[in-house]
Amino acid sequence: MNKHLGHALPRVDGRLKVTGQATYPSDVSLPHMLHAHLVMCTIAEGRIALIDTSAAEAIPGVITVITHENAPRLQPLSFPQVGQPPSSAGNGFLPLQDDRVRFNGQVIAVVVAETPEQASYAAGLVTVAYDREPHQVDMETALHAGFKPKTGGFGEDVDYSRGAVKNGLAEADVTVRPHYNTAINHHNALAPFATVAAWEGDRLTVYDAIQGVHIERSVLAEWLSLPLDKVRVISPFVGGAFGSGLRTNAHSVIAAIAARRVGHPVKLVLTRKQMYTSVGHRPQTHQELTLGARWDGQLTALRHDAVHATSMGDEYVDVNTEVTQMLYACPNLEASTRLVRLNIDTPCPMRAPPQANGVFCLESAMDELAFAVGIDPLELRLRNYADSDPETGLPWSSKSLKDCYVQGAERIGWERRTSTPRSMHEGRYLIGLGVATTTYPTFKSGASASVRIFPDGSALVQSGSADIGPGTYTIMTQIAADTLNIPINQVRFELGDTALPYAPLEGGSMTAASVGSAVHDACHSARSRLAELLNRDKNSPLAGSSAEDLEIVADSVRRTDDPSRSERLADLLGRHGLPHLEAKVKSPGAGKPRQFSSHAFGAHFVKVRVDPDTGEVGVIHFVSTIAAGRILNPNTARSQIIGGITGGIGHALMEQTEFDLASGRIINANLSEYHIPVNADVPDLEVIFIQEKDPHVNPLGAKGIGEIALIGVAPAIANAVFHATGIRIRDFPILPEKLLA
Ligand code: MOS
Repeated sequence: MNKHLGHALPRVDGRLKVTGQATYPSDVSLPHMLHAHLVMCTIAEGRIALIDTSAAEAIPGVITVITHENAPRLQPLSFPQVGQPPSSAGNGFLPLQDDRVRFNGQVIAVVVAETPEQASYAAGLVTVAYDREPHQVDMETALHAGFKPKTGGFGEDVDYSRGAVKNGLAEADVTVRPHYNTAINHHNALAPFATVAAWEGDRLTVYDAIQGVHIERSVLAEWLSLPLDKVRVISPFVGGAFGSGLRTNAHSVIAAIAARRVGHPVKLVLTRKQMYTSVGHRPQTHQELTLGARWDGQLTALRHDAVHATSMGDEYVDVNTEVTQMLYACPNLEASTRLVRLNIDTPCPMRAPPQANGVFCLESAMDELAFAVGIDPLELRLRNYADSDPETGLPWSSKSLKDCYVQGAERIGWERRTSTPRSMHEGRYLIGLGVATTTYPTFKSGASASVRIFPDGSALVQSGSADIGPGTYTIMTQIAADTLNIPINQVRFELGDTALPYAPLEGGSMTAASVGSAVHDACHSARSRLAELLNRDKNSPLAGSSAEDLEIVADSVRRTDDPSRSERLADLLGRHGLPHLEAKVKSPGAGKPRQFSSHAFGAHFVKVRVDPDTGEVGVIHFVSTIAAGRILNPNTARSQIIGGITGGIGHALMEQTEFDLASGRIINANLSEYHIPVNADVPDLEVIFIQEKDPHVNPLGAKGIGEIALIGVAPAIANAVFHATGIRIRDFPILPEKLLA
């Protein structure tokens, strides 16, 4: 039954999106709704000595201004926010609770008015006097104060070792010890985040841009001291998130506070500038690697020490060494993660945390080693290929990385690559070819889904998941249609509402595996139930059929091998007094102990062109080969990969959030000065999927592809730039001026 899975079905929500009918939170309009605008602080550390809201309150249309002086108290969370380690439970920034400010751009007040214009104008009239204290936003200066976080994202010790690096280095013929810096990156979702909050008595409904409605409900309920069933979160469409919608951010609860205070629904839309200090970012890192190898390229020692920034009041941990620990077969390996505190907004997961930054440095260092030992960089990776997981010792559930290397190399024309840097030219341009590996673990969380089959033959499938762009609506519809054996246009899939069955957050590339399995299992159960009903009635033309024999077409159920044996669903359901046939299933998360290590793998190959006079780097050919189990929809899957590559081009060459050290203020909090790739920066991207059959990961055999796309893109580009120019930039991103220095 693979009529739809594996096929390039166009997005089922595509028409809604391009015709403007998809409802994002900023599109929600409720009767008597008022508008809120945030006020942000302008110093990076200190106290609010005085906050004067009188001028703002005097503006026509302004209803109220809420500050720490009159905001309700919020209850701290008893559990960590999504993307934060278990050890950070009880931490977490709570807005408007006291006079303390810890970063420039922190929210300190909210104005509620009849129109958005009145609210934003009045917000500018709130005056504040501060007691300033010294602040720090410069990571380099703060590096010496690095500390070890209690745990990583999974509760693990952030330090890791196997063998002894000291011994491995003694065996090495060649050692490289590069140090790298990566910059702060911001998610920059296309749609600024927005929240609409409405109260009916003590019941709160929140329309939000969020990656998991059920988890947001838990957070809001606890912050506001409400029972779970008094909170409903609705988020059918999200205009991009990339991790910034994993945790419930301050503005969401502020909208709820404001709506309760004024007794009307309130809409709060962040400005682009506010997005830079309100929804997290990919943290700045400093990473030191030591690689020892024999002349044949065999790694004998690998050490990876990573430091990244977090905020003053909170702990967010990216274990940037995660991939280092499992990618190559190296017997002696040590890794550490440290944090430094800066006066910044708390970082959060950003597409492929923590691998994006970790692999940037690991795969750059592998390229440095390849050059040092004089071995082709692709060959070096093959010589250190891990046939089982070196970290856990477990066999891979499947691994097709060699195929990825081979096919990608062929497609990019790797055999034409000269071994000497700065030796390839096209006209006056320097040409370089680079490669890097990508991998991402396969996660599966518990999830629930429900199915209803109605007398008219239509099926409604529901799970409170999210679709932040990867195509969740589409693939869930495909899974349901194939599992129910029903035409695709008779299936409707709904998500993004806590009124629907529980689903985990859409993060960690696990939605296809988790929610997909739940949809699969629920539809499977519905079909069995259908067969069971039929078989209760010996006179049914379909009596004696098993679930596998059946299909639904139009308003009837019939046998696939003999369509003349058919019965109208209305008759069948009517006989049993049922308004519809229903099944609801909870699918489990990945079990433990695990027998296999499951990861998606891939390789990125890139050809760059560097202008020797200006230092501009152009990505002119990019080939990604991805092996991620079964590809459920090549259309949406390709879209995921090209999106990830585009993010990786930004990561390598452009994206960098910059601070004014004196004020601690972000100076490029806008899309004209924070550079992201535009069409002219992105060539035609080639994506090759290596199909894998992996029976171990989940019933669908899909490994997830949201994050793997971006990992490894930046080092592939950096390595190509080195090959083109002979210049090794270790301070990312690779801006043109760095190549001219
Ligand atoms: Mo992803 S950064 O887990 O949303």
